Amino acid sequence: MPLFHHFLFIFLSFSASAALKKYDFNIQVKNVSRLCNAKSIVTVNGMFPGPTVYIREGDQVLVNVSNHAQYNISIHWHGLKQFRNGWADGPAYITQCPIQTGRSYVYNFTVTGQRGTLWWHAHILWLRATVYGALVIMPKEGTPFPFPQPYQETNIILGEWWNQDVETIVNQANKLGLPPQTSDAHTINGKPGPLFQCSEKYTFAMEVQFGKTYLLRIINSALNDELFFAIAGHPMTVVEIDAVYVKPFITQAILIAPGQTTNVLVKADQSPNRYFHFHGCPAFHGCTTCCGQQDGHSYFTIQRHSKHSSPQLSPNYRFPMTPRINPCPTCQNGTQVVASLNNITFVMPKVGLLQAHYFNIAGIFRTDFPDNPPAPFNYTGAPLTANLGTTTGTRLSMLPFNTTVELVLQDTNLLSVESHPFHLHGFNFFVVGSGVGNFDPKKDPAKFNLVDPPERNTVGVPTGGWTAIRFRADNPGVWFMHCHLELHTMWGLKMAFVVENGKSAEESVLPPPQDLPPC
Ligand code: C2O
Repeated sequence: MPLFHHFLFIFLSFSASAALKKYDFNIQVKNVSRLCNAKSIVTVNGMFPGPTVYIREGDQVLVNVSNHAQYNISIHWHGLKQFRNGWADGPAYITQCPIQTGRSYVYNFTVTGQRGTLWWHAHILWLRATVYGALVIMPKEGTPFPFPQPYQETNIILGEWWNQDVETIVNQANKLGLPPQTSDAHTINGKPGPLFQCSEKYTFAMEVQFGKTYLLRIINSALNDELFFAIAGHPMTVVEIDAVYVKPFITQAILIAPGQTTNVLVKADQSPNRYFHFHGCPAFHGCTTCCGQQDGHSYFTIQRHSKHSSPQLSPNYRFPMTPRINPCPTCQNGTQVVASLNNITFVMPKVGLLQAHYFNIAGIFRTDFPDNPPAPFNYTGAPLTANLGTTTGTRLSMLPFNTTVELVLQDTNLLSVESHPFHLHGFNFFVVGSGVGNFDPKKDPAKFNLVDPPERNTVGVPTGGWTAIRFRADNPGVWFMHCHLELHTMWGLKMAFVVENGKSAEESVLPPPQDLPPC
């Protein structure tokens, strides 16, 4: 019997604000065909994209994930803060070991203080290429949207499609030390659209009524491509970004990076016709056929301000600059491309870091991630090809509970400049500034927006520029931070923070669930 997505209201409590909602996610392989080409893909409940998780602020959600695919898997609830509850966050080997084939795990979380459009996706290998879906959090019962009530709403999930098996492509590319080939098509709700062959029935169409206003929940679930989205002849009013309401503004097109979500209102006020939603990616990433020169070294600077004791690292703390020779006999050039943050290429551990932290298992990670780049240089000047002495390691940054943190994320021009949408798990952050070129610690902070900075969970670091973000480390646990371009994550553009427990039990990591997957 096919297992379709379903949810049950187990009970509706008398206070209308908190329900228990249960979902079954069966990870299963399914044959699908796009662009005249059939292949088997990993899905949730045989659906592509997967089912929408539709909940209300305050709800407790239980998602029972049963893995019937050949890959070990985990699911991340992108943008949910998971207060004290990293066990339900999902990034494999960061907060849990993946769910093995034939096993299951219940993601158990309560959604507090958040409403809007988020999404969920597989968080291991490149499986999120097909394992993703929308996560819609409605405001509490009786609480209206802070914008006119739309007539109807629709999810618009942007994605990428490869004709061949994605894991095979990635494995082969890694053996050669080259970036995997770029996707064959972009999709809207899993459909490539009419510009491709065999796409008549694989075109997403939304029928609208003249004069009505629609809410579009736009999600970029692409692996590597930042995308533009527009609807011919229809301006859009942006009302929410990354599940945070914004002061509404009108735009003809939005630029949305992998991981980001944007809600817009669109009025069907043009004469009846077909209006194309279109999206394409900017030339600076992913749309070029040749990507042999890409890499992704970024730097960041952490400023900590804490009421509690805070570790003091000397600025310009130096590592031994051991040149890193990365021989790769199977690679075409004999070398491999790596990416780094503060010259560290993050190495995935074999045990979940949150378990290692919670149970004090020694030897899994170090807590000496540097607060500053080891050796400052002109990050965005002429392309540098020098060996930076990048090291590998599972090195985390330790943050005492309630530390306020400022990160300056700096792109570099090593080989080529790149744009990087950085995503932080466990928090929203405020984007206080950004600019082109090198961040100037003397001049730039004076220009920070400390009045009404955008609040997000994923932010683009401009190509050849920098972005400054701030957050309060009030969520104890181990939280992943990475570039949301899968290519760069795979190459090591990732790290994690350990936020220590506060003084009370309410400020400490919850005990792990009994069914936490074994490693
Ligand atoms: Cu949307 Cu760590 O991911």
